[in-house]
Amino acid sequence: MKIAIVKPGIPMEIVLNKESRRKTPVIVAIKGKDREFGEAAISRSSKIPSQSYMYLRELVGKSLNNPVVEQYLKRFPYYKLKSDAHTNELVFDHDSETNYTVEELLAMILKKAREYATDFAEQSVDAAVITVPPYFTQTERRAIKRACELANIKLLQLMNDNTAVALNYGIFRRKDFNSTGSTYLFYDMGSQSTTCTIATYNVVKTKENGYVEEVPQLTIKSVAFDRDLGGLEFQIRLRDYLAKKFHEHHPNIDLFQNSKALTKLFREAERAKNVLSANNEYTAQVEGLIDEIDFKHRITREQFEHLCEDLFQRVKRPIEEVLNTTGITLVRIRRYM
Ligand SMILES: Nc1ncnc2c1ncn2[C@@H]1O[C@H](COP(=O)(O)OP(=O)(O)O)[C@@H](O)[C@H]1O
Ligand SMILES: [Mg+2]
Repeated sequence: MKIAIVKPGIPMEIVLNKESRRKTPVIVAIKGKDREFGEAAISRSSKIPSQSYMYLRELVGKSLNNPVVEQYLKRFPYYKLKSDAHTNELVFDHDSETNYTVEELLAMILKKAREYATDFAEQSVDAAVITVPPYFTQTERRAIKRACELANIKLLQLMNDNTAVALNYGIFRRKDFNSTGSTYLFYDMGSQSTTCTIATYNVVKTKENGYVEEVPQLTIKSVAFDRDLGGLEFQIRLRDYLAKKFHEHHPNIDLFQNSKALTKLFREAERAKNVLSANNEYTAQVEGLIDEIDFKHRITREQFEHLCEDLFQRVKRPIEEVLNTTGITLVRIRRYM
């Protein structure tokens, strides 16, 4: 997540977290009364995988029988998810005494986000605009609202993240737009999903303030998405491939039964993914992966691409979809972002 501060007199400013980074991983790792967030929680996650909650976004507003939940458990088999006996809500079975709903976990993360914002702004921050994926349903949006209530944050607005991106892009480029309008295409592959948006910017005459004036206008022409195409799926493919290679040498050990080993391999898969996006090969290595056994395996970019062939096929679909629904041809698009 990224947090920005908006206050009179200063343009939007991105908040730095305690590691002085602009981006903070969305995770909370809970050990007894102690909660860790961000990078510290990522480090802790290999020690207490089933109590380090992350990739929560797709679980928002879901019930246990939703296929999304099934897929989540396939990716991260060590979490214990169940339906609350009274409310029927999806809950993480944290320990013998505690269950957490997804909203409660998000509320902890939102509170932390406010803390970062307050520290950075050096003044209290009580209200927020939160961005959500454009495909979020009313149920999913309501769940985000509830998380804000639990965190005691006044929610000013839920905004589609693709609209926020287009708005932010346009605000600083007002001079580039005129009454004819210009068309831009935004493509955003994140960790869990991919969105493609066609937006137009133009200048229109209004009389809203009693006199004729020219104001810039943004129109979202079309949006298309793949809810399950993102960095995470590439990483899971690599993790499972590395697990398979380990299994070939140690057929009696099932890494999927060992949460710590699986988490270590997941982290190593992330490094492999990042390195292979710029290099032709990578030697994955985890010391003491399980039962003091070290793991080492060399993988090439070609092998990685082969593992993800079907995912690459899906990359261009959201673009085709926005072009088809708007009837806009590529030559009419002024810029791609
Ligand atoms: N150098 C890289 N090569 C490949 N993937 C990367 C690289 N750097 C980051 N990623 C992946 O990009 C995704 C992060 O996208 P981001 O936009 O930060 O997420 P989101 O918008 O979903 O919060 C993660 O899955 C991350 O592993
Ligand atoms: Mg992103």
